[in-house]
Amino acid sequence: MAIQWFPGHMHTTRLAMVERLKSGIDVVVELLDARLPGASANPLLAALTAGKPALKLLNKQDLADPARTALWLEHYNALATTRAIGLDASEAAPAARLIQACRALAPLRGGMVKPLRVLICGIPNVGKSTLINTLARRKAARTGDEAGITRAEQVIALASDVTLYDTPGMLWPRIAAAQSGYHLASSGAIGRNAYDEQEVALALLERLQAAYAGAIAARYKLPDAAGLAALHADALLALIARQRGLVQTGGRLNLQQAAEVVLNDFRSGALGRITLETPAEHLRWVAIGEAQQAQRAPKKGPGKARAAVPAPDDRR
Ligand code: G4P
Repeated sequence: MAIQWFPGHMHTTRLAMVERLKSGIDVVVELLDARLPGASANPLLAALTAGKPALKLLNKQDLADPARTALWLEHYNALATTRAIGLDASEAAPAARLIQACRALAPLRGGMVKPLRVLICGIPNVGKSTLINTLARRKAARTGDEAGITRAEQVIALASDVTLYDTPGMLWPRIAAAQSGYHLASSGAIGRNAYDEQEVALALLERLQAAYAGAIAARYKLPDAAGLAALHADALLALIARQRGLVQTGGRLNLQQAAEVVLNDFRSGALGRITLETPAEHLRWVAIGEAQQAQRAPKKGPGKARAAVPAPDDRR
């Protein structure tokens, strides 16, 4: 099975971004999902903005595991010309922290002669509109009207000498790590018709079993978290279906409904504060994905706009 990864307006957005970068950008802000910081980072953006000062905003930190958020912040803050901060929608006035971080990344910019120009990007559903609306409340937002710049771009004056350019969410052609595909689908970043919910729920359960078995036991009123961790994910999904009384006519368990329950519980935070990947795990999965891609490349040829998702045995 493969995730149907349709990059949609990727080409148009990419061109708009290239134009904006050409016109001069001092700091690139990338909004990441704090529950899946690695999977939600756009490799295409990294390639387009290589060497530019970067600010990583780990958004929705209220839903993420604080200990793992700390690991990710440490990981990003150790990179050259990169800063990272945690964020969520409960912060009423995030502009001050954002401006301060951008100024620190581009200390030679600022003032009326050399205003600080900031580009903000992020995958769908990461909370960009919510953040932009909060930021724009301070100052009026307007649609971009410069030549060569898409009308979809919003320009926001964060301060008298700090301008924020907002581009539409941009996806990328291929998900390098299969595990990242599962994490993106689990988070709701990918449209629900693009993947098999039971398969994604099973992959999610495996991650939860590895690090958050107690959260599963508590949410679904199942005894023995240690025993749950050792179960096959299929058996665990069946247990959840039985516990919730999700039975079809004829007495068969409704595993589809159980999968939807698990996915919704993760997305809403009902399972608790969870982060699906540590920096070390993400880097390992990307390395595996790239090695597999390199092996397949001569046979398949370039330019496939779909992400292969592994057989169940490859998931862990
Ligand atoms: P996008 O522009 O990047 O696509 O994302 P958007 O702001 O529309 O946010 C996507 C969903 O995430 C929304 O929920 C929004 O309320 C929620 N959200 C945004 N920021 C945060 C945050 O920091 N923490 C949490 N917990 N949720 C956040 P929704 O259910 O899709 O819509 P709504 O009914 O809440 O508006």
